[in-house]
Amino acid sequence: MNIKSIIDLKNCPINRPQSVEYLEMVKTVKTGLAEDGCAVLSNFLSNDGLDALVSEAEKKKSQAFYAKSKLCNVYLAQGNAAEDDQHPQNIFLERSNGFITADLLAEGTYAHTLYYWEPLRSFLAACLSKKELHIYADPVSNMIINLCKPGQTFNWHFDTNEFTITFLLNAAESGGHFEYVPSLRAADDECFNEVKKVLNGDRSRVKRLDLNAGDLQFFLGRFSLHQVTPNTGATDRLLLIQSFTEKPGIIGNPQRVKDLYGKVTDAHKDRIDERVRTDSLLD
Ligand SMILES: [Fe+2]
Repeated sequence: MNIKSIIDLKNCPINRPQSVEYLEMVKTVKTGLAEDGCAVLSNFLSNDGLDALVSEAEKKKSQAFYAKSKLCNVYLAQGNAAEDDQHPQNIFLERSNGFITADLLAEGTYAHTLYYWEPLRSFLAACLSKKELHIYADPVSNMIINLCKPGQTFNWHFDTNEFTITFLLNAAESGGHFEYVPSLRAADDECFNEVKKVLNGDRSRVKRLDLNAGDLQFFLGRFSLHQVTPNTGATDRLLLIQSFTEKPGIIGNPQRVKDLYGKVTDAHKDRIDERVRTDSLLD
C-alpha cells in the first residue's frame, strides 16, 4: 500500500500545505492545544490504512512487553521517603498495559512508513508551532503501539515528553476511555495539592475524550495529568504513538527504556547523557 493510501488525504490533505483545508486543520489543532492541551482530527486514517495498521499490530501482539513493576506513581518515578504516604510521589497505581516496541515495527511496515513520511512531520510541526521536528532517535521507543487488553489500564500519569502524537487503531468496546486534567501542573510548579485531589477521586476538573479508530490526537501530556480507564470490553484497545524531538539524535534514558520497554540497544549504551527538558519537574 502506498503511503498516500494510509491517510485519508481527501478528508485531511496534509500533502497540500497551501490548501484552505490544510490551514483550517492547523488552526483547529492550534486552538485546541492552546485552550485545552488537546486536539483531535477525526478520521485521519483511511479505512484501508486503518485495516493495514491493525492487522500489522495484531501479528506483533504476542511480542508485546509488559513491565514487571505494575505499580507506578504519576511521575513514573521513585517514591519520596521524605514525604508521607499520601503525597502524590508515594501514591502508586496500577499500570498493566503492554507495548509493541519500535524494533518490531521495522522498515517496510505500515507503521514505519507512516512515521517516516516527511509531509506528516511537516504538518505536525506546523500544528505544534515548531520550526521543524525530527524523528526521535530512540530505536526501542520512538514509535510504539500501546496494547490495552480487556481488564488492563494505564492509570493517572504525566508524560516526560512535552507533546504526544497518537493514532487510535482500535477503541475498546467499553471502558478504555482517555481522561485528562488540562494544565494540572506548570513548568515551575508541581501543584501537588491539585494532583492529590485527582488521585483522591475529585473529578471536577477531569475531562473525557471519546476517540474513534482512525483519529489523530495531539496531546500536551507534560502538564496535563491523564489516564486510560480500565478496558471493560472483550477486545484489545490499540493505540499507535509517535514521538518527535526538536533536536536530532536524542535517545531515551537507558534505565527508563529498559523499565518501560524491556530492552535497550547499543545506541543506549553509547548515549550521551543530555537533559533536554527545559523545566525541572519530576519525571
Ligand atoms: Fe501518557
